[in-house]
Amino acid sequence: TAVNPVAEKDCRSITPPYAKLNENLATVRRILDNRPLTLAEKIVYSHLTNPEETVPVRGETYLKLSPDRVAMQDASAQMALLQFMISGMSTTAVPSSIHCDHLIEAYSGADKDVASSIVTNKEIFDFLESAAKKYGIAFWKPGSGIIHQIVLENYAAPGGLMLGTDSHTPNAGGLGMVAIGVGGADAVDAMAAIPWELKAPNVIGVKLTGTLGPWASPKDVILKLAGQLTVRGGTGHIIEYFGEGVDTLSCTGMATITNMGAEVGATTSLFPYNKSMRSYLGATGRSEVAKAADANAKFLRADEGSAYDKVIEINLSEVEPHINGPFTPDLSTPLSKFKDMVKENNWKDELSAGLIGSCTNSSYQDMSRAASIVKQAGDAGIKLESKFLVTPGSEQIRATIERDGQTAIFESAGAQVLANACGPCIGQWKRTDIDKSKKEDNAILTSFNRNFRSRNDGNPKTMNFLAAPEIVTAMAFSGKLSFNPMVDTLKDKDGKPFKFQPPSGNDLPGEGFETGRDTYEPPSPTPTPDSSVNVVVEPTSNRLQVLEPFEPWNGEEFKNVRVLVKVQGKCTTDHISAAGPWLKYKGHLENIAENTLIGAMNADNGQVNVVRDITNGQDDSIPAVAKSYKSQNMPWMVIADHNYGEGSAREHAALQVRYLGCPLIISRSFARIHETNLKKQGVLPLTFANENDWEKINGGDVVETVGVKDLAPGKPVQLLVTKEDGSQLTIDAKHTMSVDQIEWFQKGSALNLIKEKAES
Ligand code: F3S
Repeated sequence: TAVNPVAEKDCRSITPPYAKLNENLATVRRILDNRPLTLAEKIVYSHLTNPEETVPVRGETYLKLSPDRVAMQDASAQMALLQFMISGMSTTAVPSSIHCDHLIEAYSGADKDVASSIVTNKEIFDFLESAAKKYGIAFWKPGSGIIHQIVLENYAAPGGLMLGTDSHTPNAGGLGMVAIGVGGADAVDAMAAIPWELKAPNVIGVKLTGTLGPWASPKDVILKLAGQLTVRGGTGHIIEYFGEGVDTLSCTGMATITNMGAEVGATTSLFPYNKSMRSYLGATGRSEVAKAADANAKFLRADEGSAYDKVIEINLSEVEPHINGPFTPDLSTPLSKFKDMVKENNWKDELSAGLIGSCTNSSYQDMSRAASIVKQAGDAGIKLESKFLVTPGSEQIRATIERDGQTAIFESAGAQVLANACGPCIGQWKRTDIDKSKKEDNAILTSFNRNFRSRNDGNPKTMNFLAAPEIVTAMAFSGKLSFNPMVDTLKDKDGKPFKFQPPSGNDLPGEGFETGRDTYEPPSPTPTPDSSVNVVVEPTSNRLQVLEPFEPWNGEEFKNVRVLVKVQGKCTTDHISAAGPWLKYKGHLENIAENTLIGAMNADNGQVNVVRDITNGQDDSIPAVAKSYKSQNMPWMVIADHNYGEGSAREHAALQVRYLGCPLIISRSFARIHETNLKKQGVLPLTFANENDWEKINGGDVVETVGVKDLAPGKPVQLLVTKEDGSQLTIDAKHTMSVDQIEWFQKGSALNLIKEKAES
């Protein structure tokens, strides 16, 4: 019988609460006059916190949802946990897990890389592990595998709702789960039992017919679809697959497809429950979940006659292998046309490296099919012409392919097997074969999901193409971009033409999965958290800092608030809290706050990150002036343009301004997620009643509020503005604060409110 470490050691159920979900769904059905629902709607609406009060309208209604679980990767978990720590809760409201995968480099090979990453990131891993123990969170140690692979092997379940602090969380849609990538603040909502908000998604239906040909794989389905939908085509939508073609795919193949739905901007992607999912659940030691899913099979597929907002049909029999890129995942080219593309673009016909694995493509099936190609080449005496790197997705996959011989096949050809971690997929690839300083183009082919410039090796001259693992592998033996393994030949050891046969490999290992090394720490002691554990954060650390709860509102109108900066034009969360080199400070609010608004354009002087410090008349950077005002106990505010805070759900963009002393922001409009994040951190987001009033207020003006004392939903607020020349004017402002959100503001933050409730 297959063993599952979570099912064995964590007594909290991994089976979704089907009885409750069906009950909720019955309520929603009544409200919606029993109209047929898509699978996405059924799963999402059945997780409503308040089904009896909601009339869900796709693309319009904001839903309050109760996710079943949370998964966090090591980079984004830091701020999520630091925030959770101030909630005062003794354990997370829903089962949660932490996965150490992003902070592991790819350099010398699996064991050495894991060991050296543990040294470099010791304080981060120690912090995460101690927080996991204290709050009853499952902890997956460095070397255990990539978050999405571990989730698929252990936690994903048909009909469940999961939030993950990583954009490829939708990987679990391959097992019929609505799994959504979010920022740390959203994960904190779920962990702290704050209803999680989502606008009712529209649903794109993708009808699959036919069967994949011998060279095509599930990856090619999504590579083709990405070309059709483009990187924005899925925004605000869940992509739901249906049709008889679904049953021809393996569960892990379906996960590859849903994983890369993130590349078209989809909220998530999912497949209906089917026999491949049942087999995979069985093979990974979760027959109990399969049994429960079987009993709820009707719930786990779309209703007859349900309508999609758009339907795309893909005949799997006509899907040919694709190569997407460089630099964007939606530049999609069928393999048969790629040769011409290389010529037309005058690309050097050379492949410097082939990389397989990652969260997208490291299943047993992927590894077996790639190994079958390597074996053919080896038997014919053909050597690798490109560097070839293999990243297993999990310890289970690593141990199983070692037992079944695929690893030996890879290594005998000269491949380097890396740690079970993100490694080269997230820029942790320390490359020595290319001299970056020469600034010369080089091309790599990966089976990963993203190919933004510099993503893999930090080299903007690396052209990164995406393909299925078997195509990457075959092309690495030719060393040429123009090689098409379906039709072209290589020379074997005797100089005779050699043509690859189509790849082959089983979906699941015949002898079952090996569990490998024990890299899992269950919530300790199961299931009760351990309050005696001291969460390790060194006071001298420059990477981690314990968060202090923000001050509650003092019950008065705001007075003498200085306008720090009047922002002109686009101001995304990247402009407010830059990424890149700042990522290492994700767990240290004071240090990362040094990047606050450094990308913002000052409307008063046309310069980026330059503002006047009105206390001394000198120009300085935005964070420097903000810090100076904070040190003088002078509150400050931002005047913002349209769609302020667009981009990601990055909570740092709200935390940082709050930390530096900003109690309110007024904009022409806000990006919704950022507006909510500001509210959660106790910042009052206002919009101009008359958006032309943006013109009337400037940096250095002094603002007093009227109406904050009587803040109520829908009730306007005024700003009394004193200009530098002493003249005064009044600006009418609006807000979108609900009763609950007003309480967050009054308490200083949503977490302060939770803490108060936890203590009472
Ligand atoms: Fe993400 Fe790649 Fe890791 S897509 S989860 S960085 S393997």
